[in-house]
Amino acid sequence: MSRIEEALRKAASRRESPLDQEAEHAPASEEINNQKPAAPGLPAGRFDSLLNVDPIKIDNLMLATSRDEKTEVVEEYNKLRSAVIALTKGEEFSNTLMVTSTVSEEGKSMTALNLAISLAKEHDHTVLLVDTDLRRPSIHRFLGLKPEVGLVHCLRDNLPIEKALIKTGIGKLVVLPAGESVRDPVDMLSSNRLKEIIRELKERYAERYVIFDTPPALPFADAGVLAANMDATLFVVREGRAQREELLKALAEFKDHNLLGVIYNDARTFFKKHDYYYY
Ligand SMILES: Nc1ncnc2c1ncn2[C@@H]1O[C@H](COP(=O)(O)OP(=O)(O)OP(=O)(O)O)[C@@H](O)[C@H]1O
Ligand SMILES: [Mg+2]
Repeated sequence: MSRIEEALRKAASRRESPLDQEAEHAPASEEINNQKPAAPGLPAGRFDSLLNVDPIKIDNLMLATSRDEKTEVVEEYNKLRSAVIALTKGEEFSNTLMVTSTVSEEGKSMTALNLAISLAKEHDHTVLLVDTDLRRPSIHRFLGLKPEVGLVHCLRDNLPIEKALIKTGIGKLVVLPAGESVRDPVDMLSSNRLKEIIRELKERYAERYVIFDTPPALPFADAGVLAANMDATLFVVREGRAQREELLKALAEFKDHNLLGVIYNDARTFFKKHDYYYY
């Protein structure tokens, strides 16, 4: 048995629920009406069947939006959610969004996750979070998941997308993990196969947000390559992390790719000035 077959067998319990089978064989008529014709890799009805499961248990305290308490941090993410909805739901719904930053560890993955959870929980929006940081994937780690397959296998081995999607049970949040890390993923990220996957994810369910976590923009070409296929970019700036010149250089690159806004993360100075503790 190949490694992928073995991995798929192990992951089967999280995917082959009676709900999956039901949806595969008999999607609700409403679902059928809202769907475009099936493209390779994502059979009709499969995505909706990923939604009704027990929530995964999240231990990471940084994922404030996954808990039910209404803290100041959660409020900030909810404000971000409202801003994103207001900016993306115009005449045309900009539903593919990527999150990037100038350098590493500015909080891209945390922002992408908290935004995705906030959208998925509070507004009943279906959200798909895709880990396109193939150099240093982290979405699965922050969620406490150990996926054996992911986007890399869809790109490299032609694995159908629905085989790699993970239902979280957190609102309507579904995750497409990276699957494994790749030392130099630029060719993979600029491949026609990835463009096809993004187009497929974007068009198939018109109401769904698809959020992409990416590597930092300055040292690597990955984020720039991805931005060309996205509706919009969210840019994270962590206080005290990137140099001003680096930040301006990185931002300039994304101005041409529908830069939706800049998220100021870990804003200690501002809150301390106001005698206010911010987590
Ligand atoms: N607002 C914040 N307050 C405190 N810690 C934070 C904050 N945002 C992120 N962190 C922490 O900083 C670290 C880096 O965050 P994260 O992984 O989201 O950054 P990243 O930009 O995705 O990094 P990378 O470039 O390595 O992918 C994590 O340990 C995270 O918990
Ligand atoms: Mg990250």
